[in-house]
Amino acid sequence: MNWHLYPYPFHKLFNPLFLYFSMAVRQPIICVVGHVDHGKTSILDRIRSTAIAAKEAGGITQKISFTTFPISILEEKCEPLLESFKIKIDIPGFLFIDTPGHAAFTNLRKRGGALADLAILVIDINEGVMPQTAESIEILKANKTPFIVALNKIDAISGWRRVSENLKENIDKQSSHVKKDFDTKLYRIVGALSSYGFDSDIFTRISDFTKQLALIPCSGKTGEGISELLVMLAGLSQRFLKGKLIIGKETKGTVLEIKKEKDMLYVEAIVYDGHLNQSDTLVVAGLEKPIITKVRALFEALPLSKGFKPAKSVTASAGIRMQVPDASQILSGMPFIVAKENIKKAELEIQREVSEAIHLDREGIIAKADSLGSLEALLILLRKQGIKVSRVGIGSITKSDAISASASLETDPLNAIVLGFNVEISDEIKEAKKEEKVKLLTNDVIYKLIEDFGAWRIEKQQDVARKKLESLTMPCRLKVLRFMFRQSKPAIFGVKVEAGILKPEIPLMKEGKHIDKVKAVQSEGKSVKEAKKGQEVAISLPNVTYGRQIKEHDMLFSELSEYEFRALKENKKLLSDDELKILREIAEIKRKEKSTWGL
Ligand code: GTP
Ligand code: MG
Repeated sequence: MNWHLYPYPFHKLFNPLFLYFSMAVRQPIICVVGHVDHGKTSILDRIRSTAIAAKEAGGITQKISFTTFPISILEEKCEPLLESFKIKIDIPGFLFIDTPGHAAFTNLRKRGGALADLAILVIDINEGVMPQTAESIEILKANKTPFIVALNKIDAISGWRRVSENLKENIDKQSSHVKKDFDTKLYRIVGALSSYGFDSDIFTRISDFTKQLALIPCSGKTGEGISELLVMLAGLSQRFLKGKLIIGKETKGTVLEIKKEKDMLYVEAIVYDGHLNQSDTLVVAGLEKPIITKVRALFEALPLSKGFKPAKSVTASAGIRMQVPDASQILSGMPFIVAKENIKKAELEIQREVSEAIHLDREGIIAKADSLGSLEALLILLRKQGIKVSRVGIGSITKSDAISASASLETDPLNAIVLGFNVEISDEIKEAKKEEKVKLLTNDVIYKLIEDFGAWRIEKQQDVARKKLESLTMPCRLKVLRFMFRQSKPAIFGVKVEAGILKPEIPLMKEGKHIDKVKAVQSEGKSVKEAKKGQEVAISLPNVTYGRQIKEHDMLFSELSEYEFRALKENKKLLSDDELKILREIAEIKRKEKSTWGL
């Protein structure tokens, strides 16, 4: 048979001479990732013939979910393609994982890397690469996860018609302006992907799947291209993953979520290697120490997202639910293994993984996330920027986090922050007043969280620097008013702050000559720590007499030392235009006496 006569390069994936392994292989785990609303759930719905996307609250996937997809269904769905290419499939199926587009799918980790064997990056062909597409690409790249791109929503290209069941023909037979629009959109995406270092092309033109990234146009709405997508996935799995799919002796898994249903806690997890039996002893990693627990009841996901069935034993790859006595202590994203004889060894092994991912500094900020994987991703990004983290947690931001952060208010205000990635702020905090000064920053999108945190830090740094600066004499200009409450010892009289900030203890000068130090500032009969531009207040000066050294309409300035003047000038950014103006006025006055003053 001459494969090259065929429009699809499937012969490169399903090589008939390929030597099949005789060992048991598991289903590849395939994550569906991409920007919000680009059609991840709809593509999976098409694959499963379900309508989950339509039932989701607000049409947005909230949590990670899995679907097992037996190969018999693929054979049935893709029969014409498989027939015409004489393709033999020998993987047992797929385990698909749908992820919410609004959050990163960093939770999906396993020991030593990403949980996904392969990924489908969904891109709306009409929208192109968007922020979460970019985020997904970065994560796939960092984890070295092979992936293909589903160019979804081709049906939404203006004028598009479904003319053939064969995707290539379907594309080729579109009218010329539709084809042109399609090509423009396709190559815009090819261009965007190349900026991430990927050489990509439409899958029909790929000559080497190890070097090029395959783009498969499709529609989650009409089903166009879905068979091609599935056959490509099977082919890539068989060609490039086969060795990795052999089921090992050790049972390994990752906790996805702890779910509460009818007052019962269930642990939802993926078993990605080995076998798991009811009554097995599990060693689940924890943030501080591992949790040893027993599988009380085990349920396996039914094919095509149709719920769970009780199981005595499951084999990787499997989406499972289990009841364990210590479910409330188990955290999302944690790795687990089955302990056979040597529990101590298993504990050390599993906990090492967490301690490698999470090391804490003595002082630093507080970071919270919804799972171990997201926490790890957050810590990596923070460390890259040299940010220290002293406390971490999985789950919502609690009062105890806020109290803990408030301890930094005195020592280093830049650490008085709790960052929450994809977590909520618990209600108890919203009521508490004490922790108000602590910043609580949350976001579902990791890069947004980092961006907001960066902006907060800059603002806070300026704040801190400004506070330091304020220990110097700050520039201010006062106008003496007619109100005199006491003539001398001390003289108490009214002034208007024309610019800058007036504070007790600052020295004042008049026409470049020292007058006195402000003893107190009063506003409406009460001592105040400062008075700002526009305020009329009373000041007391112990060593002058109102009417003699000081008269109505006099202009008084704060008297800066040359050192203070230079320090303020160096921190120009932190001063208002107003303060800068008086700073110049003060320098001018001083330079009348000494021309090099402050230089
Ligand atoms: P999140 O889970 O929120 O990240 O979204 P998603 O990527 O799972 O997208 P979803 O499948 O929920 O689809 C989003 C919207 O796009 C829905 O209104 C779908 O009906 C629509 N949609 C999905 N695929 C297609 C497609 O191929 N063509 C058209 N025209 N609309 C589509
Ligand atoms: Mg979705």
